[in-house]
Amino acid sequence: MLGGIKNMKIALALGLGLMKVAEALPAFPGLSSSDWTSTGRALYFQTNEDSNAIVSVKIHDNGTLSEGQLTYTNGTGAREISAATNQTASPDGLSSQGSVTVVGNSLFAINSGDNTVSMFAISEDDPTNITLVGAPASVPGDFPVTVAASELNNLVCVGTSGARSGVSCAPYAANVGIGKMDFLRTFDLEQSKTPAGPLDTVSQVLFSADESELIVTVKGDPTSNKTGFVSVFSVTGAWLTEQPRLSASRIDSKLNGTVALFGFQQIPHSSKYFSTDAGFGAVIFSVDAARETSTLLHKQVIADQMATCWAAISPVTKSAFVSDPLVNHIVEMSLDDASIISVVNSTSSNDASGYIDLAAAGAYVYALSPGATEGSGAEVAVLSVSPGKEKSITQSFNVGSWAGTSAQGLAVFP
Ligand SMILES: *[C@@H]1O[C@H](CO)[C@@H](O)[C@H](O)[C@H]1NC(C)=O
Ligand SMILES: *[C@@H]1O[C@H](CO)[C@@H](O)[C@H](O)[C@H]1NC(C)=O
Ligand SMILES: *[C@@H]1O[C@H](CO)[C@@H](O)[C@H](O)[C@H]1NC(C)=O
Ligand SMILES: *[C@@H]1O[C@H](CO)[C@@H](O)[C@H](O)[C@H]1NC(C)=O
Ligand SMILES: *[C@@H]1O[C@H](CO)[C@@H](O)[C@H](O)[C@H]1NC(C)=O
Ligand SMILES: *[C@@H]1O[C@H](CO)[C@@H](O)[C@H](O)[C@H]1NC(C)=O
Ligand SMILES: *[C@@H]1O[C@H](CO)[C@@H](O)[C@H](O)[C@H]1NC(C)=O
Repeated sequence: MLGGIKNMKIALALGLGLMKVAEALPAFPGLSSSDWTSTGRALYFQTNEDSNAIVSVKIHDNGTLSEGQLTYTNGTGAREISAATNQTASPDGLSSQGSVTVVGNSLFAINSGDNTVSMFAISEDDPTNITLVGAPASVPGDFPVTVAASELNNLVCVGTSGARSGVSCAPYAANVGIGKMDFLRTFDLEQSKTPAGPLDTVSQVLFSADESELIVTVKGDPTSNKTGFVSVFSVTGAWLTEQPRLSASRIDSKLNGTVALFGFQQIPHSSKYFSTDAGFGAVIFSVDAARETSTLLHKQVIADQMATCWAAISPVTKSAFVSDPLVNHIVEMSLDDASIISVVNSTSSNDASGYIDLAAAGAYVYALSPGATEGSGAEVAVLSVSPGKEKSITQSFNVGSWAGTSAQGLAVFP
């Protein structure tokens, strides 16, 4: 109820075009999603086709997937250029984690082709039913690739990888929409409007579990001696009296020995983060909340990897799972020291060369396959990670003509 009143007030503020929300009531802190061990109810990814759309898929109580819906974002998808070939990159045209994000009953998706971010309301009765809320918001940057939202701060932030690369944010209200995006906190990536990746691009934006900081991973580029970095911004503004904002300044930390930090997740109940590095495997780094600096703690090479890019932490196994678009495996790694716990060989389940995103819910890890060839449908694999059982892929759910090789992002509700 308090949340409802708060949203009404923010709705009024947004309606009047005001940034400041006076007398907003505090939201319940809520359970951290990392504490959630129940099976998800729906999962979502984006087609990233020219007319961008969200594919939503139903998750049954036994973790299996069925039926779905296709909902247009009213925005445009796009694929980056592959620096290696000068051709359009597909699959993995975004080189990011978090192109689709679920927070509370809201879903956010970036549209890389027209520099916008769309917001949807998720129906509590049928979470595969999502409804566009307001028009997509314009981002003051080029080629958005990743979005994070803070329910506590009613703040949504987008990372862009193109010529105008950086982070910008806007207030939002559930069931109402996104307000005006503020300004671009720039990264010096020297990219063109459509970036040439995957190196030297923004990987992911993510709020810390307490929602007081926004953490960003940016890939380096060894061919031009650029080291990637972790960028930490703080959320400023007392949420009792005004609309919180993301700080204009930040602390960037280059993590010695990393190459291309990619998808990451916060390790529950800690100030540590588990991140993939496309150059060699994965790392664990910590963020000092007071100084906002990041420090490398552990580094793990995956011997036969090509580009380890996405990470999901399972609340059931209390371990991380990572995927690689070029190697057909899902690797489980320790949250203590990033050491390898198990490897699932997915050659027989996945026609594509590997998986391009991951999400975990309950005793399952879901992995997105972009389809093997142009025209083949995207698939979501269900990896059962129940304790005491062998980890195995129990289903590969094909979405047919709805999404193909450009499919990207994976998020679970609740
Ligand atoms: C999972 O649940 C769905 C829906 O109830 C059912 O159709 C399917 O057969 C079940 N699968 C397994 C492996 O139990
Ligand atoms: C890609 O295009 C740029 C500029 O058009 C050129 O300088 C570069 O050599 C090309 N690279 C490859 C791998 O073809
Ligand atoms: C989806 O949700 C919207 C908004 O709650 C509702 O108006 C619509 O009837 C629902 N559609 C279906 C097919 O359930
Ligand atoms: C989506 O775009 C179409 C046309 O481009 C427009 O008519 C429609 O109102 C838009 N819908 C929303 C919810 O913004
Ligand atoms: C990168 O740095 C190394 C060592 O400092 C140097 O030898 C090399 O020439 C540099 N390469 C480029 C492309 O700047
Ligand atoms: C980074 O690595 C270099 C070379 O190994 C070393 O000289 C330097 O002190 C390291 N920096 C930090 C901050 O650890
Ligand atoms: C994965 O399985 C395939 C087919 O079963 C096999 O050919 C391949 O060698 C396996 N890969 C690894 C790394 O074990």
